[in-house]
Amino acid sequence: MCGIVGYIGRRQSQKIILSGLKRLEYRGYDSAGIATFNEEKISVTKCSGKVTDLEKKLSNKPHSSTMGIGHTRWATHGAPNDNNAHPHIDFNNKIVVVHNGIFENYSSIKQLLLENGIYTKTDTDTEVIAQFIGFLYSKEKDFMPFNAILRMALKEVVGTYGLLVMCLDQPEKIYAAKSGAPLVIGVGDGENFIASDTSPIIEHTRNIVYLDEEEIAVVTKDDYKVLGDDNSVVVPKEIETIKYSLDQIEKGGYEHFMLKEIFEQFSSVSESIRGRIAPDIAEVRMGGISGWTNNILEANQIYITACGTSWHAGLIGGYMIEEVLGIPVKVEYASELRYRKAPIDSKTVVMAISQSGETADTLATIRKSKEKGATTVGIVNVVGSTIARETDCGVYIHAGPEIGVASTKAFTSQVTILCLMTLYLAQKKGVESEDITQMKTELITLTEKVKTVLKVDDLIKKIAIDYKDSQNFLYLGRGYQFPVALEGALKLKEISYIHAEGYPAAEMKHGPIALIDEKMPVVAVVTHRAYDKIVSNIQQVKARGGKVIIVTSEVNKELENFSEHIIEVPSIHHCLSPIINIIPLQLLAYHIAVLRRCNVDQPRNLAKSVTVE
Ligand code: G6P
Repeated sequence: MCGIVGYIGRRQSQKIILSGLKRLEYRGYDSAGIATFNEEKISVTKCSGKVTDLEKKLSNKPHSSTMGIGHTRWATHGAPNDNNAHPHIDFNNKIVVVHNGIFENYSSIKQLLLENGIYTKTDTDTEVIAQFIGFLYSKEKDFMPFNAILRMALKEVVGTYGLLVMCLDQPEKIYAAKSGAPLVIGVGDGENFIASDTSPIIEHTRNIVYLDEEEIAVVTKDDYKVLGDDNSVVVPKEIETIKYSLDQIEKGGYEHFMLKEIFEQFSSVSESIRGRIAPDIAEVRMGGISGWTNNILEANQIYITACGTSWHAGLIGGYMIEEVLGIPVKVEYASELRYRKAPIDSKTVVMAISQSGETADTLATIRKSKEKGATTVGIVNVVGSTIARETDCGVYIHAGPEIGVASTKAFTSQVTILCLMTLYLAQKKGVESEDITQMKTELITLTEKVKTVLKVDDLIKKIAIDYKDSQNFLYLGRGYQFPVALEGALKLKEISYIHAEGYPAAEMKHGPIALIDEKMPVVAVVTHRAYDKIVSNIQQVKARGGKVIIVTSEVNKELENFSEHIIEVPSIHHCLSPIINIIPLQLLAYHIAVLRRCNVDQPRNLAKSVTVE
């Protein structure tokens, strides 16, 4: 979703901000803009489209400004056009703002501005806040410092923001304010950066400071001062270090980030496992939740909450926890759970799964659950993200930066971690079984099987040619393969814009079977569990002329007779099988999308990190 980059220092800001905005493209956006100080005036350039369009627009405006703010916008209020793109400037041309998040009460503030003769020129909530700060500034500037005026404005707004503000009368300062949308300061030598995540910062400095809720930072080229909620106290902040390397956020020879990330699963899954299970399987270690083990094991119920792909991983986690630990688990979309009157209390554990650690609905659900006394657990990829910081305890999945909007390696690492967590809790509970021993043994060799399954890439490239023009796809699975079917369908629709549905195979006869004809490809994930049942579901598809693609570890004549294509995958314990079985489905979606000439890494309308409701 929207991205922010600010720079103040010795170098030309425009170049640094543009290259930072390119690093944020992965988040998904539809317009871009930049504001800089040029010869004592604020200069704003913005346009719909890509950062390269903005770059072209700026090519005849070279300047030497060493301070500026930039933005990539994912439209919420108002169409994605030049006018609505950020930055937004106030009626006096003094205050300029870029904003991530939503000001929910912007209409009432707009009304107040109108009553004072101030008219807005765009459809956005952000312009309203720029005008409002400008309005307060025009009245209060002789009586209070700018940071107090900014705070006064922010006290009036309801909503979420990561906000950068420049004021013409303060050419040496960028103000940053955070509430519900992340902002991080990159601490350089004689220069400082501010961004919505660390990716635009890493090529300049690894030293970072995360802003916390309701903080305002006053950033100059040599310093940064972070003010707490009441504005009078300077909050001491710890400088942290970016842990990943620059090449992890580059394509490394692959045509797309998504393909790189699919192939990286060999190493990302291994990073998730590393240090968490002894090679002799004698012990599973999970430092991040060790202090909270009793709360989890003694819980009356567990809620797993997440959105999108992470929710699919959650379904698999729910199955595992119920099967191995016998604790009831409900897996809920965060956007639903946050508004439900669910019986969450101090005997409840709420686990949030999130790649970005910033998804607005997941975060809101965690906050609400904490208020009700629940123990909250984060299963997160992005280190230092808000969900990671706000949950009581948690585990990083360590999949490394995921840039492709369609999540791939985060999913397999999430499932891996859920498996390790289940085994860790079983160990603490003293539960032992043959299944548990097998799961542990298979975790040790899991990455080899990931490597093996990636070899199906060439076959899938060929299969994709046959189905690239399909209008609909159905994905079927039973048990642990049902979430795999959901995730396979989601991958296809996200990046190829083909309508696809995932269904529990037996449920097909209660509806989707009506859609099946010779134009409908059906992808079925078949394992030895419930083999006969799913085979009969496939027969029902075949009898109606459907085209069947089977992903299976059980290749045999029977399946060959029923299918157009068989994709063979290594056999593995059923709890771990989603990690293996999803990979061919990721590749199928990828190759179909490439053949359809879709923008694989930045699909239309989608965002990597959904920081609004
Ligand atoms: C967006 C992304 C998906 C992701 C979902 C949840 O929709 O495009 O890939 O699965 O958000 O994101 P999270 O960061 O919370 O896992």
